[in-house]
Amino acid sequence: DFAGENHRSLHGRHVLVTAGPTHEPIDPVRYIANRSSGKQGFAIAAAAAAAGARVTLVAGPVHLETPPGVDRYDVESAREMLDAVNGALPADVAIMVAAVADWRAADTAGQKIKKDGSGEVPPLSLAENPDILKSVAASPARPHLLIGFAAETHDVVAHAQAKRTRKGADWIVANDVSGDVMGGDANTVHLVTASGVEDWQPMPKGEVAHALVERIASHCMKEER
Ligand code: CTP
Ligand code: CA
Repeated sequence: DFAGENHRSLHGRHVLVTAGPTHEPIDPVRYIANRSSGKQGFAIAAAAAAAGARVTLVAGPVHLETPPGVDRYDVESAREMLDAVNGALPADVAIMVAAVADWRAADTAGQKIKKDGSGEVPPLSLAENPDILKSVAASPARPHLLIGFAAETHDVVAHAQAKRTRKGADWIVANDVSGDVMGGDANTVHLVTASGVEDWQPMPKGEVAHALVERIASHCMKEER
């Protein structure tokens, strides 16, 4: 009984969650996007709220209902997400589940880009987006427990371990997306921490959320003792 075990276990904590994709505008009608549904991040926000936390959810463009008891801020682009995250700090725990676009269009056209009839294609140059997780890790308001997600199709754990140290996160939830996970309802994850790797059984995203929130709650308890 997850609800019972988690009952108010995060009471008094502020938990920040990012979720969903980001949309990076090319012109007023076009954007760069990815296939993230936001389901895993929303499930984590819901589980944290059910565990009694004050939850701030910074959401990219998704088609999902706000979970009960969650404060939600909608954003479009990575740079808007960074601003919203900075505005939401301080937090005790941050869980960065969003599939932030790595690149945006270097220039955004103010008007719809038109075909000129010559058959020539417009150039599209890209700029790198800020790394929100890395910037939160380096912030004076760094949460005590900072968790990233890493969607990988191969060498899942090795890539996640490298990301944990490179980005300055405490934990990385490594998500094996070699199957049909993006937008689906089940996840195969590995929890990568400083002390090692836990391989979790494939389970629905709601159960991943509850198991993670339980781990977070017991970590917070240990820190307090
Ligand atoms: N992340 C972020 N800001 C970015 C990119 C990623 O905050 N601009 C966060 C994600 O929310 C996630 C973690 O970093 O928690 C890992 O994201 P991932 O895309 O796996 O890592 P990248 O460093 O972008 O590496 P890759 O080349 O594999 O995409
Ligand atoms: Ca990325």
